[in-house]
Amino acid sequence: MCNQLLKQDINNAIDICSNTYIQKSVYENYSQIPLRGSENCSELFKQVENSFDTTFIVTGSGDQSLETIFHGAKEIYSFDINCLAKYGSALKFAAIMTLEYEEFCDFYKKMFPMYLYNKVREGLSGDYLQFWDSLFDFSFSQDIYYSLFDAKHHSEIIDFCCSIYSKQGYYQVKDRISKVKIQYETIDLLDIKINSDNKEKFDFIYLSNIYYYLKCSPKQYSKFVLSRIFPLLKSEGEAFIHYLYGAAGDPKSILNLLFFDLKEYKKDLEVIKKLDLYLPLERHYLVNCSGYGTSLGDKDVALSLKR
Ligand SMILES: C[S@@+](CC[C@H](N)C(=O)[O-])C[C@H]1O[C@@H](n2cnc3c(N)ncnc32)[C@H](O)[C@@H]1O
Repeated sequence: MCNQLLKQDINNAIDICSNTYIQKSVYENYSQIPLRGSENCSELFKQVENSFDTTFIVTGSGDQSLETIFHGAKEIYSFDINCLAKYGSALKFAAIMTLEYEEFCDFYKKMFPMYLYNKVREGLSGDYLQFWDSLFDFSFSQDIYYSLFDAKHHSEIIDFCCSIYSKQGYYQVKDRISKVKIQYETIDLLDIKINSDNKEKFDFIYLSNIYYYLKCSPKQYSKFVLSRIFPLLKSEGEAFIHYLYGAAGDPKSILNLLFFDLKEYKKDLEVIKKLDLYLPLERHYLVNCSGYGTSLGDKDVALSLKR
């Protein structure tokens, strides 16, 4: 028997699988799960000098958390507004624990073949096992891949964005993953509260590009960051508060100089300028463009704040 919340999650996930679901421009409680991270985390996190020991991070595809494990994270608090994100991340973690590198690539590239799922389920337990067993019982693997996961927008992202997609990185993460303590929570970033359990607890905070999807001005977001994110950091801790695709560097192509990309680029520059004005930003990190997003430049920008 499964509890009410789990039942609701399974039913909603089956619904998403059986409909031709169009990803909306805002994230909701029940949305598709990103198949892959779309930020160049491998290049970005490599530049971070601070510890990743205790990490506070968006769940998304799970790739961002896996990159922190590659850099030594031991305890991860993983949050997402989407109730289904934790199941996607748990599936990826279980796949890494149970599969060899080539099998892992096949699991995702061949759309979850059952002979590999039967291995992966050995790495799942509790609600996560019940969720995925029910999904694979009631839905076709291809529907799970193309409807429950957002494979359309995320599968083409180039492999360098996260270390697990290289053989060496994969085995480094595989060695560490079972010792990592991960806690998932379904919550809107804006509802995160400071309490005695999380105050000054984290070495590393990563908010991805959630700011793109929030309906708040740079001033309002800065106020939120200072009052609700900054206090979560340990002394010397570092928080990445926004990631902007193609917001620096040279034009990716001549074609990008035409049409609307310039508008997007100017908007990004304005956001960076305003966040810089309202927040004591530590650094603007630059990495090669992940290939995602429509902005003009060939560099992505990540904005960070240090305690
Ligand atoms: C910002 S999105 C997009 C990033 C990118 N496509 C990727 O997955 O790498 C990554 C995750 O943020 C989550 N998210 C979006 N808005 C959120 C919010 N207000 N609070 C918490 N999580 C949110 C989404 O559900 C999604 O799983």
